[in-house]
Amino acid sequence: MKLVFATNNKNKIKEIQSAILGKMEILSLAEIGFSGEIPEDYDTLEENALQKATHIATRFNVNCFADDTGLEIEALQGRPGVYSARYAGSQASAENNMEKVLRELKGESNRKALFRTVISLKYNQQDYFFEGIVQGQILESKTGDEGFGYDPIFQPDGFCQSFAEMSIAQKNKISHRGLAVKRLVQFLEDEITGSPVQ
Ligand code: IMP
Repeated sequence: MKLVFATNNKNKIKEIQSAILGKMEILSLAEIGFSGEIPEDYDTLEENALQKATHIATRFNVNCFADDTGLEIEALQGRPGVYSARYAGSQASAENNMEKVLRELKGESNRKALFRTVISLKYNQQDYFFEGIVQGQILESKTGDEGFGYDPIFQPDGFCQSFAEMSIAQKNKISHRGLAVKRLVQFLEDEITGSPVQ
């Protein structure tokens, strides 16, 4: 089975290939000859994921999925949420975004946060959604060099390492995207093929 993953983020492709472990072939946008930006104009993770998947599925007539992720921080009333990518401004880097979060949480004892991923799957012209959530804490400072985005300041509950101190395999086992992908793969196995994906 071949599925296109509608993302330009190489880290996400690596994470998902590692999570799927050869159960299906994941094609990147580069592999199908797409090099542009995918629009992401909405105010919910669901709508953005659907918009990205639809953009590619329609243009290339392929089965395809896209994800959208937000970091929701309790003491910031759920911010940055769906605006996580551009929290410190439209051209913000991951460093800028993390610095803004750390600044806003300075002196705050409630560090509770969660990552939420929504995957939109376009499969044979039908839409399906899969969600994954991981609860954790925002650290006082950046820790670790692995991963991407907010990984250096997020420590999942039950662990004493940040996501940026974990290998891809460790992160996938517990992460928001790892859980959403597990549900996607399970769905394809159970509901669509009727038997385990070969
Ligand atoms: P998007 O899903 O690519 O739109 O991600 C929104 C924002 O969340 C971006 O700033 C990403 O870098 C960040 N992000 C998405 N997934 C992760 C993750 O697994 N760890 C840390 N940051 C993430």
